Amino acid sequence: MTLTLPEAGATLLSDWARGYESQPEEHSFWIEHIEGHVPVELHGTLYRNGPGLLDVAGYPVHHPFDGDGMVVAISFRDGQAYYRNRFVRTEGFLAEQRAGRPLYRGVFGTQRPGGWLANALDLRLKNVANTGALPWAGRLLALWEAAEPHRLDPLTLDTLGLDRLEGVLRPGDAFAAHYHIDPASPWDDGAPALVNFGLKPGLSTTLNLYEFDPAFRLVRHNAFEIDRFAFLHDVAITPRFAIFIQNPVRYDALPYALGLQSAAQGLASQPGRPSTIIVLPRHPSVGAPRAFRVPGGFVWHHANAFEDGDVLVIDSVWYASYVGIDPRTNFRQIDFAALPPGKLTRTILDLRSGAVRCRTFDQRACEFPVLHPAKVGRPYRYVYLAAADAPEGNGPLQAIWKLDLESGAQELWSAAPRGFVSEPVFVPRPRSAAVAGAVSPDSGDPERNSSPTEDDGWLLALVYDAARHESDLVILDARRPARGPLARLSLGHHIPHGLHGAFTSRVYFP
Ligand SMILES: [Fe+2]
Repeated sequence: MTLTLPEAGATLLSDWARGYESQPEEHSFWIEHIEGHVPVELHGTLYRNGPGLLDVAGYPVHHPFDGDGMVVAISFRDGQAYYRNRFVRTEGFLAEQRAGRPLYRGVFGTQRPGGWLANALDLRLKNVANTGALPWAGRLLALWEAAEPHRLDPLTLDTLGLDRLEGVLRPGDAFAAHYHIDPASPWDDGAPALVNFGLKPGLSTTLNLYEFDPAFRLVRHNAFEIDRFAFLHDVAITPRFAIFIQNPVRYDALPYALGLQSAAQGLASQPGRPSTIIVLPRHPSVGAPRAFRVPGGFVWHHANAFEDGDVLVIDSVWYASYVGIDPRTNFRQIDFAALPPGKLTRTILDLRSGAVRCRTFDQRACEFPVLHPAKVGRPYRYVYLAAADAPEGNGPLQAIWKLDLESGAQELWSAAPRGFVSEPVFVPRPRSAAVAGAVSPDSGDPERNSSPTEDDGWLLALVYDAARHESDLVILDARRPARGPLARLSLGHHIPHGLHGAFTSRVYFP
């Protein structure tokens, strides 16, 4: 493990911040510079999404979540890899590139130049399409949680326009960035089901829960009313339930309307107030929605959830509170030590009595939990995360971390001192037997992706190396990630720190 000395702090921060420089170039090429070997069994396409532009014509965004979405695709077959990156041609991206100046306010902090008068009463949302990627039924969507998805060509990454999913979404409807795939839905004779949601915010919130079959046909849609403002980024699923954690935040829209700050800067943590676990039935026969109070905190992402009789187990990355970036703060100079770290925490909820127990697995700061796709909604053993290099305290994500939730064993591969990791994506080794029902988001073929042990597969992560100001795609053996990369694929340019990705078994070679 690398020890980061105190006097290296400024360098660490400037290294991390440089990973947020814009990447305006688009490339497509066969990856030739490879250390090690790409496993020949690795077959399919990794998609990653995240902000590609952190400025508009030299005007910096105030929060990385406001950056224009850029999708990266890397396809693998027979040990070869083909790379492509393309901006999502959203309405806002095209208009601002044409104008050569910012035309929109960003949701998380970016204002149009010209002070509050230039921003007041401009309540348009810029759909930056920068948060998630969804390959499903041969379709590729770039997701942003507050509006419709954009459809992309899965080979060329050309933007084909907004996708309202054959009329499931109406103009302006939200389709969240955090879908989950039930590998064997009990409501669909064991077929995979894509579960996603969309919020219609306000003083009360409408939550639309959508489920699609492997042909992207809507098979269930339920709308639920939440009697207050709700800020829900992720959902966890089990065979019977969709589970949300409503964190104690209040919302003041007035400064946003007056042009004084961005929409999300009206969010404020409410210390001392509880969080609420919202348990929604995926099917009407399951019963009514229920809500349970738990100690307050803040959750962006869930690792997984499962049922044990009438007990629900929900694993999430919990923070002590929500932290935004206020109008006076430059996110590139953020003081990690002053922010609460995210910690992997298990919430055990007895649905009969309402009793709740919480257990933090480890003190290491972490984010972006992933697991074997066959274990979504089921009891599982292994979780993989992006994590801080140090075992305690807060810091940028520099390591890939594996936890065995049964034994407590863990392994870490760190890119510190000058490397920074993205969310890992777990890819099961194909054409093996055993972990039943394994599916990738795009295959619907259990045999193809099943594997003999739950950790038999690979972890794929983009790693930004500040020493070279370039990013690599790193492939780790998920059984033994601490042994270091099986392969390191050099991209020759940097990809800004990104958000979420997905893997499909389909190969898209030119
Ligand atoms: Fe997220």
